[in-house]
Amino acid sequence: MSGVVYLNDNYVAENEAKVSVFDRGFLFADGVYEVIPVYNGKILFLKEHLARLQKNLDLINIKYLINFLDWQNICNKLITNNGLDRPLYIQITRGNENRRNHDYSDDIKPTIVAYSLPPITLGNCLTAKSINVMTFPDNRWNHCDVKSIALLGNILLRQIGKKNGCDEVLLTRSNGFIVEGTTSNYFIVKNNKVITPPLSSDLLPGITRQIIIELCKSNNIDFAQENILLEDILNCDEIWLSSSTKELTSVVRVNNTVINNGQPGPFWHRIANLYINNIKQILNG
Ligand code: PDD
Repeated sequence: MSGVVYLNDNYVAENEAKVSVFDRGFLFADGVYEVIPVYNGKILFLKEHLARLQKNLDLINIKYLINFLDWQNICNKLITNNGLDRPLYIQITRGNENRRNHDYSDDIKPTIVAYSLPPITLGNCLTAKSINVMTFPDNRWNHCDVKSIALLGNILLRQIGKKNGCDEVLLTRSNGFIVEGTTSNYFIVKNNKVITPPLSSDLLPGITRQIIIELCKSNNIDFAQENILLEDILNCDEIWLSSSTKELTSVVRVNNTVINNGQPGPFWHRIANLYINNIKQILNG
């Protein structure tokens, strides 16, 4: 279905409407959208849809102010060009900084897209066949073990950390267990034992995490997978993070508690070196 697309202040042909692979909508599902019904050229509930869009933009801290009249014009132009019975789709993402980075800067410019969806017919439901449904536990989104690009939750939490002078945020589930960071797994050391939370749908099974576990085992380092509470972290001897890009990052403060007198600990030192040497060996193959 051909048509005109509104893209960042321009109207372009559908096949010309392109956004960058670095757009945060594409990378992180970092954006919000609206679908607005249109019948016979008339837009329905535009005020309500735009108000919800503004509220959602504000909720996820995308800095974009919706001007009602501007958007009424944009919508009308799309309807005139694309068809009188095609609902409108609006999507606003946080934008694109030409790189992949969970953190975003304050002056990032949102990406704004609007186009027409396939036509709908008023009153269709009156003659449509009735349907069957089923129930299922609402697990949206309880699949932190899936390395999904839907990282909006992670990004908003990470940004809270940034605002509070922290490079990572460790995430507490409703049962009190602290499962992982927004972009990393973590390990603590207590009484000479290395501990990381067990795998579940609450955390990503990190590859780096797995390598560290194997290194602990092959080097006879006491290791266990156990659920970890905040008090365990605040009373631990060491804590570090793991990820493919950050390797093993030593942590010296959690909330207001200084860990190991503000110094990286001996277990981190040993295991980080084991990890680096292991990688070097692989590279020298
Ligand atoms: N993130 N947990 C989360 C939520 C992560 O996003 C990551 C990695 C990890 C560690 O996984 P691994 O050891 O396989 O890198 C744990 C990557 C690095 C990222 O999003 O950039």
